[in-house]
Amino acid sequence: MKNILITGGAGFIGAHVVRLFVTNYPKYHIYNLDALTYAGNLENIADISDAPNYTFVKGNIKDIDFINTLFQEHKFDGVIHLAAESHVDRSITNPNDFIETNVLGTANLLNAFRDLWKDNFEDKLFYHVSTDEVYGSLGKTGLFTETTSYDPQSPYAASKAASDHVVRSFGNTYKLPFVISNCSNNYGANQFPEKLIPLFIHNIRTGKNLPVYGDGNYTRDWLFVEDHAKAIDLIFHKGKLADTYNIGGFNEWTNLNLIKVLCEQMDIKLNQPEGTSAKLITFVKDRAGHDKRYAIDATKLNKELGWKPSVTFEEGLSKTIDWYLKNEQWLNNVTSGAYKDYYKEMYE
Ligand code: NAD
Ligand code: DAU
Repeated sequence: MKNILITGGAGFIGAHVVRLFVTNYPKYHIYNLDALTYAGNLENIADISDAPNYTFVKGNIKDIDFINTLFQEHKFDGVIHLAAESHVDRSITNPNDFIETNVLGTANLLNAFRDLWKDNFEDKLFYHVSTDEVYGSLGKTGLFTETTSYDPQSPYAASKAASDHVVRSFGNTYKLPFVISNCSNNYGANQFPEKLIPLFIHNIRTGKNLPVYGDGNYTRDWLFVEDHAKAIDLIFHKGKLADTYNIGGFNEWTNLNLIKVLCEQMDIKLNQPEGTSAKLITFVKDRAGHDKRYAIDATKLNKELGWKPSVTFEEGLSKTIDWYLKNEQWLNNVTSGAYKDYYKEMYE
């Protein structure tokens, strides 16, 4: 039996990773450490919460004493670190929250892992989950590869870039075994409706405006969240130590084109006349320092580990919309704040 710590497992991507590991690896005991910030929601993983190889731990990676005690108590063989402040707009209003959780929190985990195993790291791994935003913004052509220089532009991106550097420095200095992946924009079930796709699904559902930043001519590379979780599984088990893998969908969309496809699918699924959702599109003030274009070259992951996305964007988007329409209560609980009642009695 191996003890694996997954941080941020009550969030969007973390919940998919926790479910995959708890389900596919009965020989691992999965500890899900999450502070349950506004983005953490135990409803996301309610289906596996009683599994015998699963334990939820409410706690903050900023709390160094708590983290050290937890590592000493459970002797984690592996760490998959996803806990973070993740929303760019929030980083523009509150940059320090991002530095504290994403940089200092990551350093706390690394120190605790190092203190636990000293210099005997055989069969141990610290997996740091990061973002393509560390590479900055692309022009009209080109793709981010694993050797693209870091050039983060938002406080969120800078905090993730800094945490990547801290992880690599522990690898170099203390020989701490690590792997890093940098992924493009995820979409799918359980994403907090502050991010583009779930926010727009929610707004269409409730007849609210769809706020398009600037002229909408910004490009992102979209990946279905379950494909990200599968890539993490593969890299955790087969990735090269001290290496980096880019994960992306080879699936670039300008925001405006993506929003048009989303509106078309929503009209069909809601049985409303074509063009109804698109009428809600409203151009609003641009995001400060808005990165123009992200696009990932995931060739290395494909060639070395055989990974490729399992669904097309149209399929993934359709599945995603269906999930939000079917799980109206989840959306209502998140938007009303009632999702916090779910665990109040247990963890507060
Ligand atoms: P999320 O905001 O949905 O979830 C983050 C989780 O971390 C939440 O459950 C939250 O409660 C927890 N958390 C936050 N601060 C914490 C703290 N101090 N201590 C303990 N737990 C804390 O984020 P997400 O979109 O699922 O992203 C997960 C990871 O993947 C992040 O590291 C993010 O940078 C990275 N990533 C996200 C995307 C994306 O498109 N969402 C793409 C690439 C990489
Ligand atoms: O690229 C990976 C990153 O993708 C992750 O590291 C981040 O955690 C994740 O939040 C995401 O960042 P983005 O800023 O690209 O995602 P967001 O959904 O906030 O915005 C996507 C695009 O849509 C971006 O160009 C801004 C635009 N947008 C977003 C919102 C919320 C709008 O035009 N209107 C909106 O209301």
